[in-house]
Amino acid sequence: MTATDPTIATQPTAPTVVACYSVFDRFFPACGFTDLTDGMYDGDPQRPYEDAQVRQAEVLLDRAGVRHGRRVLDVGCGYGRILLTAEARGAKAWGITVSPEQVRRNTRAGLNVRLQNYKHLGAEWDGQFDAVIANGSLEHFARPEDAVAGRDDAIYRHLFATVHRLLDANTIGARFVTTAIHFRDRPDPRDLLKLPSAFPSGSAGFHWARLSQSFGGWYPVGGQLVACADGLFRLVHEEDGTEDYRLTSEAWLAGVRRAMMSRRLFRVARASLPAFVRRPVHTTRMLRCMLGGESWNWQFRGNPAPTVLLRQTWERVA
Ligand SMILES: C[S@@+](CC[C@H](N)C(=O)[O-])C[C@H]1O[C@@H](n2cnc3c(N)ncnc32)[C@H](O)[C@@H]1O
Repeated sequence: MTATDPTIATQPTAPTVVACYSVFDRFFPACGFTDLTDGMYDGDPQRPYEDAQVRQAEVLLDRAGVRHGRRVLDVGCGYGRILLTAEARGAKAWGITVSPEQVRRNTRAGLNVRLQNYKHLGAEWDGQFDAVIANGSLEHFARPEDAVAGRDDAIYRHLFATVHRLLDANTIGARFVTTAIHFRDRPDPRDLLKLPSAFPSGSAGFHWARLSQSFGGWYPVGGQLVACADGLFRLVHEEDGTEDYRLTSEAWLAGVRRAMMSRRLFRVARASLPAFVRRPVHTTRMLRCMLGGESWNWQFRGNPAPTVLLRQTWERVA
């Protein structure tokens, strides 16, 4: 693996990702959820959803070495659970996100969050952090179009190079912690750019196309990130969290269904209306993806599931 591709730093933020969160940010919190990644169940499927989410934030911060006085950046901070938990430890926490609604919510909560694509972070961010976390955001960094063009490695390489320069060179053992869905078997990226109707309903091609239409992302495969991190970061810990993401996604689906069948439906409809008016096609696609064919949940179901969730801890190589 060699130098980074300079064109990655000028890639615009993917419109599908922005559209996805402008819909989600209205719909999901109204259904009662403010986490957008897996909780940690530690083999106990009876663990309450909230406890699993609390556990995930604590464990990821432990792995990143975040404690009193440490500076941490959360790349793709969602609704800020990691930031709040870090601040409760006495750390100094910053978050970036491509969602204006997430910035508004986090700012109201007193958190330090910017509307900022990590690909565009300038030199003024260099050396400012002791730890960086990307919890469930990496899946948005490359798009199927990038994979078709053979650019996915370059994007992950650029990610590691960016985080490398953000970390303070004086911090011994500075860590980068990632949680990312991986393809178990890499599909043909051209298939993700087709309409779901090009595939038999319920087939893998159908679900990948629906997920791509709704979330606009692309996943790495096992070993790809390790190769892209070469010379910049050393993998020091890896854990398979696929079952945890299955349990979380089933809890989301059940919770959203409950909300739709209860008096909460009016609150959800009122909150989601602006997104539906502004983005009727995208809102319909996302509802179909989550609730119709259950494509989101499909990716974690079955044995083996079509995806693997990897929680990885990386240590900066000097
Ligand atoms: C699945 S959510 C995860 C949110 C949060 N980490 C959590 O665990 O709930 C993905 C997050 O990544 C952010 N994101 C996606 N692409 C990004 C980019 N290029 N730069 C910064 N943030 C990005 C989204 O705005 C969103 O906050």
